[in-house]
Amino acid sequence: MAVVLGIFMMSCRSKTQYENISLIPLPVKMDVSAGSFTIKPQTPLLFSTHELEGMADYAAELWDAYLGFELRTEKDDGLKGSNTITLALNSRYDEELGEEGYTLRVKKDGIRISGNRPAGVLYGIQTLYQLLSTNSEGKLPLVNIKDYPRFSYRGVHLDVARHFHPMEFIYKMMDQMAMHKLNVFHWHLIDDQGWRLEIKKYPRLTSVGAWRVDMPELHWNARPLVNDPASATYGGYYTQEEVKALVAYAAERNITVIPEIEMPAHVMSALAAYPELSCTGENLGVPPGGVWPITHIYCAGNDETFGFLENVLLEVMELFPSEYIHIGGDEADKTNWKSCPKCQTRIEEEGLNDEEELQSYFITRIEKFLNAQGRQIIGWDEILEGGLAPNATVMSWRGEAGGIEAAKIGNTVVMTPGSHCYFDHYQGDPDLEPLAFGGYTTLAKVYSYEPIPEVLTKEESKLVLGAQANLWTEYISDTRHAEYMYFPRLAALAEVVWSPKNHRDWGDFSRRMEAQYKRYEVQDINYALSAFQVSASPKVNIDDKTLRITLASEVYKPEIRYTLDGSTPDVSSLLYTSPFEINQTTTVKAAVTRNGQLIDQVIEREYYLHKAFAANIEMEHPNSPNYDAHGEYSLVNGIRGSRSYSDGNWKGFSGVDLVATIDLGEETSISHVSVDALQTSGSWIFVPQWVSFEISASGENYELLETVMNTIDVNDSRRLVEVYATRQPAENVRFIRITAKNQGVCPPGHTGEGQPAWLFVSEIVVE
Ligand code: ACM
Ligand code: ZN
Repeated sequence: MAVVLGIFMMSCRSKTQYENISLIPLPVKMDVSAGSFTIKPQTPLLFSTHELEGMADYAAELWDAYLGFELRTEKDDGLKGSNTITLALNSRYDEELGEEGYTLRVKKDGIRISGNRPAGVLYGIQTLYQLLSTNSEGKLPLVNIKDYPRFSYRGVHLDVARHFHPMEFIYKMMDQMAMHKLNVFHWHLIDDQGWRLEIKKYPRLTSVGAWRVDMPELHWNARPLVNDPASATYGGYYTQEEVKALVAYAAERNITVIPEIEMPAHVMSALAAYPELSCTGENLGVPPGGVWPITHIYCAGNDETFGFLENVLLEVMELFPSEYIHIGGDEADKTNWKSCPKCQTRIEEEGLNDEEELQSYFITRIEKFLNAQGRQIIGWDEILEGGLAPNATVMSWRGEAGGIEAAKIGNTVVMTPGSHCYFDHYQGDPDLEPLAFGGYTTLAKVYSYEPIPEVLTKEESKLVLGAQANLWTEYISDTRHAEYMYFPRLAALAEVVWSPKNHRDWGDFSRRMEAQYKRYEVQDINYALSAFQVSASPKVNIDDKTLRITLASEVYKPEIRYTLDGSTPDVSSLLYTSPFEINQTTTVKAAVTRNGQLIDQVIEREYYLHKAFAANIEMEHPNSPNYDAHGEYSLVNGIRGSRSYSDGNWKGFSGVDLVATIDLGEETSISHVSVDALQTSGSWIFVPQWVSFEISASGENYELLETVMNTIDVNDSRRLVEVYATRQPAENVRFIRITAKNQGVCPPGHTGEGQPAWLFVSEIVVE
């Protein structure tokens, strides 16, 4: 170890000085010295053993993109002398490198890439590709790199059930994963809205289950159930031959493909094909869109269900040699199990306490079957409920709690919390982005992710195998959009799971991203420019009632141009250098420049410095701590919420009303009071029934100014921001009381019928 440290400089000390080296993920150790080696068309590309012949061909093809020629490959016979590139397997196993590590040396007289295994050589080839991308005409700096991954599981998930994605895209993703040194492809092949894998024994799974009625004009969650196979035109599936070829292609790129065969829920596609496998036997068809809650699930009391699943899994195991099979397990609503005689008999006969334990029985029974075939199961964290199957790996998605719980009882874990790893979430300002699931997961946020929770001991931490990015495709119907959501965030995740924790350095990463964006362009990847968006952080100054605005961007050394007069910024607009104050209602527009051009991602923020701005405000019922916006002054901070409930500007009240009293500090005349409310019925957020405005001079006796009735349909599934306003003028007003009446409970027919409704409110404006 001491020798190793003596030879190599730790890259964390030296990395920023090499502007022409922009490796992602950052290697464990890198030492750069003066001088260069140039790859020429006649430079032989040698492989030390025939095991690496295919790898050499792959390298020649890959590097061609930057060299402009394809190198000649040949077996190393020891006689080629210098000025060669050699790919080699180590004759003695290097413990530090492990199964996937490599060394890459560019010396004056040639290049050598070696690993204990072909996987390591593959990753060395990727690193050289990246070096070529930032050094023209094959002229490389002299480097000495020793590199290996922090985690063994470096995953990417793709949902092909909600929207079918063609095989060409899956191949493209395998290439991208290899470039990012990611090694597990979690293929979500089955969900309510589609069964995408040919199963020879059950042809109806694809002849029926792969097709749904297309309703692109309706929001995903507004599409009704229909059972009409004749008009089911949207869909597709992969044949077994196609899958085998893909799995082999992935293996050549050190990628294990883990299929997800969902159970017991998210299987309405299978139940449309074989309705007898559900508790009710009903045929509800393949749903054209979202279904919630998911009650139509496999019957756990029917042995035919298990016979069916075992037969399916036998074919799945033939196609996928992975140690792990993902069995889903998420989001099963057990309502039908409660009233199903077969399920209840099973509970009784097996001595189970409830339906949660019945799910545990279900998963454990499948686990036993798969274990007997030499396979292991992975499941979403719901498989902890009712008791975890003994050997299961838990995929922690509802935060990290499931992963922590599983590790504490000694099971292995893959981290994929919604907060950092769900790439179906927004990565930028929702006004500038395609429709996404919600959330706000920027490039920097992904980069900040730490897969090992602090509460785990050192021993427990070893059970965290790694992390994974998930892409659910309810709103993602084409591959260009899928690329947009994956990239560049996958680059951030790659560094999280590959590079040593103490190398994490956002500033340096964002510098290296400049080169990564250029690579994406060469590779025809439709990456998002969201990281180039400007973010504006306002801070209320109570004392002088001003708003201090800080502008920033996730891009490297951004040049931010902005305007304060509502005009669209251009390259000659104000240059942002430090935070500034505003003392009146102002529209800030801002964007960054790149190569002398303004990036077409202009953010627009309006700040309302109205009469109640930064006024004292008290609320009768507290808002939910989860939806607290910016805290105390949020409703009078000059900022109105967007259509996204999680944008940080909305206060959320569960089941209770907003009753807010504002003290303007002195008596004054007013002509306008308003409050913004949000509706997002899919998230159980509804506009109020009515809003009343009361005024007082003393704060004791209030006079009703006006009650404004709601006119928005609570069943409208669009995201709506509605302004409730009174324009009754009034004199001598010091106190204003605003009451927004919560709907109380979700309305009849809504999936949350009878459960507490959310009321979300944002800025109260007084003029
Ligand atoms: C999941 O997102 N339902 C695992
Ligand atoms: Zn049942």
